[in-house]
Amino acid sequence: MNIIVAVDKNWGIGKKNDMPWRIPEDLKFFTEMTLNKTIVMGRKTFLSFPHQNPLKGRENIILTRDEHFKVEGATVVNGVKELLSLVKDKNTDDVMIIGGQSIYQTFEKYCAKAYVTKIDASYEVDTYFPNLDLLDHWKVDKIHDEVVSKTGVTFRIYEYINTQL
Ligand SMILES: NC(=O)c1ccc[n+]([C@@H]2O[C@H](COP(=O)([O-])OP(=O)(O)OC[C@H]3O[C@@H](n4cnc5c(N)ncnc54)[C@H](OP(=O)(O)O)[C@@H]3O)[C@@H](O)[C@H]2O)c1
Repeated sequence: MNIIVAVDKNWGIGKKNDMPWRIPEDLKFFTEMTLNKTIVMGRKTFLSFPHQNPLKGRENIILTRDEHFKVEGATVVNGVKELLSLVKDKNTDDVMIIGGQSIYQTFEKYCAKAYVTKIDASYEVDTYFPNLDLLDHWKVDKIHDEVVSKTGVTFRIYEYINTQL
């Protein structure tokens, strides 16, 4: 499985259970990279979606420790082992870990690649993604061209590979 995330200059990812930014060009990349795949998220990230609906065109898996939590159109799992056994027969590139902080922290070691949108700006944040540049097992594999968003910010997508897998 792989990770997809957008971070600010300080590896910040969220504020008050929402994204600190709205960048349509990055959202387009997220959609392209996740469509027709399985996406894995924590309950809080799921609750941040508009109208709390699963994302269309994707198999949505939500992690929660609440055994009574149910969502129509999504699969709910209660732990790491359960998630890993659910996705074990799927193609690695067809499973995307989409956040948030706690899910990224737990699953980065199981992921082969990370698609990291690095936004060239700092925001007020309360949640973070691990700084992959400080983790020995993650190496930059590819850097995409810089994109100037119509919102005014610039960003660049970095592809990292997990050298331990
Ligand atoms: N910038 C980005 O690319 C990006 C992407 C996604 C999310 N975000 C942001 O990230 C923030 C949310 O991050 P977060 O860490 O607060 O929440 P989160 O990771 O989305 O969800 C946390 C919840 O997931 C469940 N969970 C976590 N680990 C589990 C495990 N091992 N087994 C079973 N359930 C588990 C728990 O649910 P229960 O409490 O129900 O047990 C936990 O409270 C938001 O601000 C969101 O906008 C940013």
